[in-house]
Amino acid sequence: MRWSEYLLPTLKEDPADAQIASHRLMIRAGLIRKEATGIYSYLPAGFKVLRKIENIIQEEMDRSGAYRVMLPILTSAHLWQKSGRWNVMGKEMVRLKDRHENDYALGPTHEESITNMVGQTTFSYRDLPLNLYQMHTKFRDEIRPRFGVMRSREFIMKDAYSFAMDEAGLDKHYQQMRKTYRNIFLRVGLETIPVQADVGAMGGSASEEFMILSSIGEEIIIHCPSCQYTANQEEARRRSFEKSGGINGDRPAREIVDTPSVKSISELVQFFGLTEKDFLKSVVYNADQRIITVFIRGDLEINEIKLKNYLKALDLVMAQDAEIREELDQEPGFIGPIQIKGHVLFDHSVLSMENVICGAGHKDRHYKNVVVGRDFEIAESIDLHKVQEGHPCPVCGHALIEKPGIELGHIFKLGKKYTRSMGVTVLDEKGKEVQPLMGCYGIGVNRTMAAVIEQHHDDNGILWPISVAPFEIGVTSFAKKADEITRCDSFYETLLSAGFDVLYDDRPLSPGIKFKDMDLVGIPISLVLGKNFFQDGSIEIRVNRGQSKYLVASKDAIATIQKIRSEMFQSLRKIIE
Ligand SMILES: Nc1ncnc2c1ncn2[C@@H]1O[C@H](COP(=O)(O)OP(=O)(O)OP(=O)(O)O)[C@@H](O)[C@H]1O
Ligand SMILES: [Mg+2]
Ligand SMILES: [Zn+2]
Repeated sequence: MRWSEYLLPTLKEDPADAQIASHRLMIRAGLIRKEATGIYSYLPAGFKVLRKIENIIQEEMDRSGAYRVMLPILTSAHLWQKSGRWNVMGKEMVRLKDRHENDYALGPTHEESITNMVGQTTFSYRDLPLNLYQMHTKFRDEIRPRFGVMRSREFIMKDAYSFAMDEAGLDKHYQQMRKTYRNIFLRVGLETIPVQADVGAMGGSASEEFMILSSIGEEIIIHCPSCQYTANQEEARRRSFEKSGGINGDRPAREIVDTPSVKSISELVQFFGLTEKDFLKSVVYNADQRIITVFIRGDLEINEIKLKNYLKALDLVMAQDAEIREELDQEPGFIGPIQIKGHVLFDHSVLSMENVICGAGHKDRHYKNVVVGRDFEIAESIDLHKVQEGHPCPVCGHALIEKPGIELGHIFKLGKKYTRSMGVTVLDEKGKEVQPLMGCYGIGVNRTMAAVIEQHHDDNGILWPISVAPFEIGVTSFAKKADEITRCDSFYETLLSAGFDVLYDDRPLSPGIKFKDMDLVGIPISLVLGKNFFQDGSIEIRVNRGQSKYLVASKDAIATIQKIRSEMFQSLRKIIE
């Protein structure tokens, strides 16, 4: 491609609204332009990268035995109503009406469409297993679209949905996709970490996210540097709790203490001169109109996702003071487990507490010297705490660390959620109607492109892995005289005939600008046709922005480039069988 004829508009300055490297560089390197908030156009070079990523995904998905399909973007409301999600999807789903006032949504995800299609086309166990995928535009009216194409409102997703007769079949699909995802990310040059994820309130039995570590990540990954245990914060567990709150081992009788207006844990710490761990914290929730009181050790936070999942609740909010008084017969701010009414849950951390201070149920009163098992019983103890930096690893006990991450892909065992709600059955070998078990598997294609740039750039520009570079080879010509231009043009033709995908910078600009632009666009193998070339035909080959450099004779250039190119591909192709 001759740069002089191409649409590759580079910019010297960073765009003002771009906070992260990939967003800045995608604009500056002429790959994308913004049309509206969270909505982007891809220019020719950007589109080439996107297509290369799609091709890698398609190759690996096909290799895994999945079949590509294409589902409608405009999805009918009746499917969403059937599954029960029309009212659950909220404002993120873009809804519209046709001229007959029928409701539609622009698909934010396609479980409903695919389940409907599989219901129309499969009848017995002989038709399964199946894994179907598509790569298509999704719409999500995100609350906060940001970071360029990382979180946009219109984006391309590879979404796959598997259908199996039994758990073993589902597990086979799931493991297959897990391996396929690792290969896809390796081939695009990304280091991802599989992170155990929350399985959600509505069914599902296993879930993993493929994350990259990044300072701009919006998810918190809990990681053990010793045994490599990794989970997202919603799902993370910790080793059991050390004993706390014991006062010299003796167990004096419980006592009422006057605590005027002392409610919060920090106020209590001040008042009693003890540590957070010595207090029992209570939080009262309204979960789908049920009032639930949760007790947890004072220094810990409640993980509301764990709570929501445990209760299988759709909606979880703090209870109102009036609801608390009515349901618990206690005063908000002074809630304790002694003589409490209603549904009470204890986090595991409470089991390890010996001698605690807790609310006495009445205004301005606390109890001290409360002994677990003596003064109150723990009827229901569950894992409800948020795991944080410094907590002991559930596997090896080493202190855990927190790291921010970005989710690129997600694999999930859905089970019968959609086949059940949408009434899809097939006949098993005995002629009995059964609901197939589903899995779903998503990758954000544009987000993956941005993630590659996040992991492969420096101050001067992008450093594309060869597998997804807009061009594999860049040629910078410094020809001025007519015969020099002719020689450069003919060398460019030679490269094209050898089958290379070349960006030929033939623009009449200064060497400084041309070098800067080639660096910004980040072509992995770049050739310089300068003084040496015009004197004796030798060509400078710069690999990965000059990490290694070679000076070769024209006649050896093609063979050398071929060798460098295939080594680059080799280093990315770490297929795990
Ligand atoms: N707004 C978006 N812009 C670009 N890609 C997205 C967006 N939302 C999701 N994706 C991509 O689609 C993949 C599958 O979608 P999924 O529904 O699992 O995402 P999600 O859990 O909503 O992601 P997030 O937590 O980042 O919102 C994600 O792993 C991500 O790569
Ligand atoms: Mg989301
Ligand atoms: Zn560990």
